Amino acid sequence: MIAIVSGTNRENAVSMDIARQYSEILKEKGVENIILNLQDLPPDFIFSSLYGNTGKNEQFNRATDIMNTSEKFVFIIPEYNGSFPGVLKAFLDGLDRERALAHKKCALVGISAGDQGAGPALSHFTDILNYCGTHVLAYRLRIPNIGRLMTDHKITDSGYVTRMHKQADMLIGF
Ligand SMILES: Cc1cc2nc3c(=O)[nH]c(=O)nc-3n(C[C@H](O)[C@H](O)[C@H](O)COP(=O)(O)O)c2cc1C
Repeated sequence: MIAIVSGTNRENAVSMDIARQYSEILKEKGVENIILNLQDLPPDFIFSSLYGNTGKNEQFNRATDIMNTSEKFVFIIPEYNGSFPGVLKAFLDGLDRERALAHKKCALVGISAGDQGAGPALSHFTDILNYCGTHVLAYRLRIPNIGRLMTDHKITDSGYVTRMHKQADMLIGF
């Protein structure tokens, strides 16, 4: 099972559009997958679900179950203030590192309004994942100028679609 994590809790996020497109690509390749939308986290999770409250919030537990039972992940990461969204780090801080992240494998997709394609965000996030014992596929996909590339909630640019397929194939074989 591959979990596709949409790395923001922003409403109507483009990250979710990319997550849905990635999910379709994996389905076409016959790979079971599930989307984890950080917007579905309980609004108060940074207080109700972390540290001493670990395991106490059922809604948060559903998200951690997805992480615990998936062998691989795709993280869709929008660039926020030159890095990845804080909600994604808070989510990681609420996980059981050994069960959710250690010895697992993942691929990263970065998106941005500007021209960095979330490159720095992907590097920051790779450092954290590696600390947590998650192996990051070297082929990281950066998609800059995302506003210009979306049509009907999808990327149609053949170059980026080809790269998404290439990355998905590499993750399946990783
Ligand atoms: C809080 C916030 C900070 C942002 N910071 C940047 C940034 O540093 N560089 C950039 O290119 N775009 C930035 N953006 C734009 C997002 O990268 C861009 O809109 C992205 O597609 C949004 O993804 P989302 O729709 O999944 O939230 C920012 C957007 C938000 C909401």
